[in-house]
Amino acid sequence: MKEIVLATKNLDKIKEMREVFKDMPLRVLTFHDFPCMEEIEESGNTLEENALIKAEAWARFTNKWALSDDTGLEVEYLGGRPGVFSSRFAGIGATYEDNWRKLLKLMEGVVWEKRKAKFRCVVAIVSPQGEKLIVEGVTEGYITCEPRGSEGFGYDPVFYVPEKGKTFGEMSIEEKEEISHRGKALRIAKEILNKKLEGKGNVKNERV
Ligand code: IMP
Repeated sequence: MKEIVLATKNLDKIKEMREVFKDMPLRVLTFHDFPCMEEIEESGNTLEENALIKAEAWARFTNKWALSDDTGLEVEYLGGRPGVFSSRFAGIGATYEDNWRKLLKLMEGVVWEKRKAKFRCVVAIVSPQGEKLIVEGVTEGYITCEPRGSEGFGYDPVFYVPEKGKTFGEMSIEEKEEISHRGKALRIAKEILNKKLEGKGNVKNERV
């Protein structure tokens, strides 16, 4: 395998995915290389289902290995919401800011100890023949009371990571990827792909 297509039209995710794969002998393709590829509806009930739906559709359409991610923010105080609905939390077509503003509103007056949250990222890699690899990465943190920082995307300005003493919104892309849910999942996927490139392993329907 010498090429992989990123099964997403989200430029923010593509930037972070490219960062992780930049030192691999792999040609990374995106939707720019396949302008006819349609938007895939995320009709699954779980992150894993959605990640697979996207990677399978892109692998079929492009006849190449495809990698997707589906990510959810799980807030303890909200019983794990927004979770799989993170992108549509404030409604269909909501902006990143609409979503984190809704979250801050729901968390108004909630004390710090009860503001625990985690990002869960499921990465799926699917081959044109239908081999599947699923990996997961999690980062734990807290929902801030106000947005901080202008880096990153999505809920990054309101997600505080204690081990760094900053929100994701205050971190450079390299700093975020070192400890982020997506960085963790992609690094595991990368290790398995590296073995595959060296001809030392296979990715037959693995889940890590
Ligand atoms: P999805 O994986 O495209 O369904 O993403 C769900 C939503 O979660 C996105 O629209 C973003 O708002 C948010 N999201 C995904 N990844 C991140 C991240 O790394 N940081 C902050 N928000 C994210």
